[in-house]
Amino acid sequence: MRLKNHCSIKKKKNSFRLILFSNLNKLLHIKKTSMIEYENLGELNKPFFEEFEKSFHKSLLSGWYILGKNVENFENEFAAYCTSKYCLGVASGLDALILALKAFDFKNGDEVIVPSNTYIATILSIMHCGLKPVLVEPNISTYNIDPSKIEEKITSRTKAILVVHLYGKVCEMDKIKTICEKHNLKLIEDCAQAHGARFKDKQAGTFGDFGCFSYYPTKNLGAIGDAGSITTDNTDLKEKIKKLRNYGSSVKYVNELIGYNSRLDEIQAGFLSIKLKKLNEINTHKRFLAGIYLKSLKNDFIKPDVQKDYFDVYHIFNIRHPKRNELKEYLLKNNIKTEIHYPIAPHKQEAMKGVFGKEIYPISEEIHQTTLSLPISYFHTEKDIIKVIDVMNKF
Ligand SMILES: Cc1ncc(COP(=O)(O)O)c(C=O)c1O
Repeated sequence: MRLKNHCSIKKKKNSFRLILFSNLNKLLHIKKTSMIEYENLGELNKPFFEEFEKSFHKSLLSGWYILGKNVENFENEFAAYCTSKYCLGVASGLDALILALKAFDFKNGDEVIVPSNTYIATILSIMHCGLKPVLVEPNISTYNIDPSKIEEKITSRTKAILVVHLYGKVCEMDKIKTICEKHNLKLIEDCAQAHGARFKDKQAGTFGDFGCFSYYPTKNLGAIGDAGSITTDNTDLKEKIKKLRNYGSSVKYVNELIGYNSRLDEIQAGFLSIKLKKLNEINTHKRFLAGIYLKSLKNDFIKPDVQKDYFDVYHIFNIRHPKRNELKEYLLKNNIKTEIHYPIAPHKQEAMKGVFGKEIYPISEEIHQTTLSLPISYFHTEKDIIKVIDVMNKF
């Protein structure tokens, strides 16, 4: 009897728990669906799933998985998109930067000028090549390297300027090119965040000796894994990169250079060709959403700079606010997820201890302490952005 009773109590408890759980799940579901996410790669790529599946099957059946037709097609398509003579697929954005620097045969300890507020990959690429990164502060309005501060950092060992078109805005390339010509410096562009961005109608990746692209999944042109590429107009440099990415070899088992294994794979190249056809549409959508933010966010927030010479593609739409952390918390409480690009300045990272001595970078630090990136994915709707604005304007 007791046992029976015990069992029935247990059963009742269990069914109560079940109801509780299913209600909790429903609640969570409601909460989940009302949450405005910062990014959701599944949602972002949903419109491409059908074509991806077809392309994947075709690659699988082809039996050719490395450096084949898909890579060649994508390279030609992306070169044409950028109005560049050549494009070469590599394994990642970091590799693109490393191979571009390696192509010049700089000497150990040679210096490369680079912005102090970038994603750490840009600086790492210089260090991985045995070169010395020399940091230059950004312009506080554009967040890109300040051309007026470059020349004071040039020494007899300076060999190149590695610019970063941060957040999807191209740097002031006319001034930077003039400095490069005056001091006989190579020019490399980190275009990881700037697919399709333009300055004075010229595409990112076509100003310097090399344009280095990342196709990390969140980028405006993102793969379904790691991928990257290098654009150039220089035939000799193109040939060198072609060898460097493939064990220093252009003829099988003949190795002319100390190369790497950094090849874009056939499956990713197939996916990238599909998404490249929609890159302009992706950029147009992000620019449309950015336009709503720019128009309707109250002026307590420092908004991105907009100038007529720039065609910005808003890989990231950031604002700045002195109470950034409080704002981020407040938005999360109101079901809006945001990100920080980036919370710690590169020179303050543990990995960089001792690399930059006692030099200070106050503008860079100010940006890192106050910047907040708002939702602006291809899958976000006008309604999503209006909700973010409504909540933000009450902060
Ligand atoms: C500015 C910048 N440079 C380089 C990279 C490195 O690209 P990847 O992650 O493909 O190596 C990134 C990627 O996030 C980036 O944002």
